[in-house]
Amino acid sequence: MITGANRGIGLELTRQSVAMGDEVIACCRTPMEATELMALAHETDLISILGLDVRIERDMKPIAAGFSRRLDLLVCNAGVLSGRGGLQDPEQKSRNVEDTLMTNVGGVFFTARYFLPHLLAGSEERGDAPGKLAIISSQMGSSTRSGSNAIIYRASKAAATNLARSLAIELADRNIAVGAYHPGWVQTEMGGQNAAITPADSAAGLLKRFAELSMKTSGIFEDYNGLAIPF
Ligand SMILES: NC(=O)c1ccc[n+]([C@@H]2O[C@H](COP(=O)([O-])OP(=O)(O)OC[C@H]3O[C@@H](n4cnc5c(N)ncnc54)[C@H](OP(=O)(O)O)[C@@H]3O)[C@@H](O)[C@H]2O)c1
Repeated sequence: MITGANRGIGLELTRQSVAMGDEVIACCRTPMEATELMALAHETDLISILGLDVRIERDMKPIAAGFSRRLDLLVCNAGVLSGRGGLQDPEQKSRNVEDTLMTNVGGVFFTARYFLPHLLAGSEERGDAPGKLAIISSQMGSSTRSGSNAIIYRASKAAATNLARSLAIELADRNIAVGAYHPGWVQTEMGGQNAAITPADSAAGLLKRFAELSMKTSGIFEDYNGLAIPF
């Protein structure tokens, strides 16, 4: 299951996952407008589209409760960057700050909370491995690599990485491995056209990282190439 799967990195993760034969629950907040995702879903039975706005807990709760599939990987990818400047950036206004924190931090928290039963889904009774949790963070949230641009986004990603670390500890006794990932600087609406890598390269690297994630590496923060990112 991938959140924010209608464009950018999430869409490419979806495309490459189904190309490998995996079933994907592709989440997006407005399925009727997700034209690229819908076109992809028309080509294969492996994609199910699920309407999900990660900020809205009151909707997510019943959506997750009515969902009956077992998840072997939950990718919290949905994210926003509104306000690319610092203290004087007029875009850093309360509505945008709230949106950024609710999407990038609250959204991860609520998605993990309400879809946790689907990661577990009978694994304890059967004695097999439950699903894993991958959180798409950013090296911009690394306090070792601080900068003065997009400072609310940076703070939100620092919190997303921190959340991944906390969840790795909270979920350890349920055998759920949790990783935080920097996808690279990627050519998407968020990353811009001058970004260093394509969504295809980012997604290919990330899918390898997710496959490698285990209880031994739970709590990891690394980039799409597997390089450790300092906190
Ligand atoms: N691109 C980069 O260079 C880069 C670098 C580091 C980290 N990241 C992270 O990678 C992730 C994906 O970014 P991207 O580059 O693919 O960005 P993008 O092209 O802007 O796509 C963002 C995705 O998140 C979805 N989204 C936003 N708010 C949402 C909400 N409330 N509920 C559900 N979905 C929501 C968007 O859906 P809508 O179409 O409905 O808006 C879209 O599908 C983000 O977490 C981002 O912070 C990106």
